[in-house]
This record gives sequence, C-alpha cells and structure tokens, in this order.
Amino acid sequence: MCRPDHFDVTYAINPWMDTSRPVDRDLALRQWETLRAAYEAKGHRVEVVDGVVGLPDMVFAANGGFAVGDRAMAATFAHVERQPEGDAYHAWFTAAGFTSTTRAVAVNEGEGDLLRVGNLILAGHGFRSSTQAHHEVREFFGLPVISLELVDPRFYHLDTALCVLDDHNVAYYPAAFAPQAQRLLEQLFPDAVIATDADAEVLGLNAVSDGRHVFLTDAATGMHAALRERGYEPVGIDLGELLKAGGSVKCCTLELHP
Ligand code: ARG
Repeated sequence: MCRPDHFDVTYAINPWMDTSRPVDRDLALRQWETLRAAYEAKGHRVEVVDGVVGLPDMVFAANGGFAVGDRAMAATFAHVERQPEGDAYHAWFTAAGFTSTTRAVAVNEGEGDLLRVGNLILAGHGFRSSTQAHHEVREFFGLPVISLELVDPRFYHLDTALCVLDDHNVAYYPAAFAPQAQRLLEQLFPDAVIATDADAEVLGLNAVSDGRHVFLTDAATGMHAALRERGYEPVGIDLGELLKAGGSVKCCTLELHP
C-alpha cells in the first residue's frame, strides 16, 4: 500500500475525477489508515511504499505492477501524469528482494487490469492496459492469461468490474464487459456473484478477498448480503475521499501472491 500523503485530484483521466471538487487529504489519510488496520486485524502483513510528491494517484498501489512468487513486473502507465510511478514501483520491487523484476514494455497498469484467480490470470483491456501487455505477462510469468474487453468508461480497469473471491470464484458486473468477455466469464465462473448496478456504481467490486474475508466499500450493501449468503465475511470500509479519484479498496492494494 502507498500512504496518500500526496493524494489529490489535479487532473482527470477517468470519469470519476473532477478537478473542481476539493479533496480532504486528512480524511483520505484517515480512511486509508482504516483499511490498513482492517487488513492487519485479519492477520495480513502490509508493506508501505513511500508516496512521491507530484504523483497524486500513487496511492493506488494496485496499478504499480503485478507479482507472482519472486517475479514482479512494474507497470507502464497509459497516461503521462502517472508514468513516473512505474519507476517508483520498479525500485520498490527490486529493493523488496524480488529475484526477477522487469518493467513492462507495453502499456500495463498492473493489478488494475491483471487479476490472478487460481493459476489463471484474468486481464482487462479497452481503456488502459493493452492486449500486447497480456502477451508480455504470459511470457514473463508462464501462466495462462485470459483477455477480457472492458466497454464502460466508468469501469476503466478490470478491478473496478471484477473481484476475485478465492482460487475458483469471482464476483463481476457483466455490463462492464464486451459480449465475448461476458460469455467467457459465464463459462469460467458459472457460480459467480453477479453485482447489481447499484453495487458496481459505488465500486463495490473494487474489493480484496483472502478467500474468507472480503474487504470492500461499506456502500455496496447488495454485495455485502450476496457475499454473506455465500459464506464470505464482508469487511466494510469507507474510502469516500479516494473514490473522488476513481479508486476504492482494491486500487489501494497491490497483492503479493506467494
Ligand atoms: N485516478 C486513478 C487512475 O485513473 C485511479 C486508479 C484506480 N486504480 C485501480 N486499480 N482501479 O488511474
């Protein structure tokens, strides 16, 4: 995770961002601390990456890269405003002791668009990461990659439209995907939790699951109920200030898979 010490909305690269709406950074910091504390309370270790002055979106650590085991690929951002974050996250992966680190060549926004479910990588494209990036990821990590096209600009990253619940199942919002991607998801995950419009619109799918606890916005009440029904334990977090930049729980979290 990256503390939102330099968080702000100074440019608009997704429909959630409105530079005329002020951001309360102290509130953002308090909300972020709540998320960190919630992870730690459930037994998860949190590493903190230093934010960088002038990189207001760096709090969205999920976009910094993608890591499996001791291999890590740092991101290459689509928008010039976020491009320097790629080097910062690359430096962090190297310092953290990953034995094989690389910097993506093609546009690749890390876990924003790459989500591991079991031994499969689901990969979004359409707004940020390129399909070229999907090939690069397949080569570097040696895992199968399933490309899924996103079509709704509000759900510009895969992690705004789909959440991995455990090694076998996901929750997602079908309308965010192109018809072919919808069919693929139906085949791969016949028991998926299907999110309602209301849950998707508060970024209820931008969630992190450890297979039992699912950390997500407390505003996604339908998701909370659906998850409970399936035996998961939802943990509600309010990240309202960070939502002003188009991010929620998952965006703030880069998962280091064993
Ligand atoms: N303002 C950021 C952007 O548009 C938000 C990134 C959210 N991160 C995510 N993993 N979806 O790039």
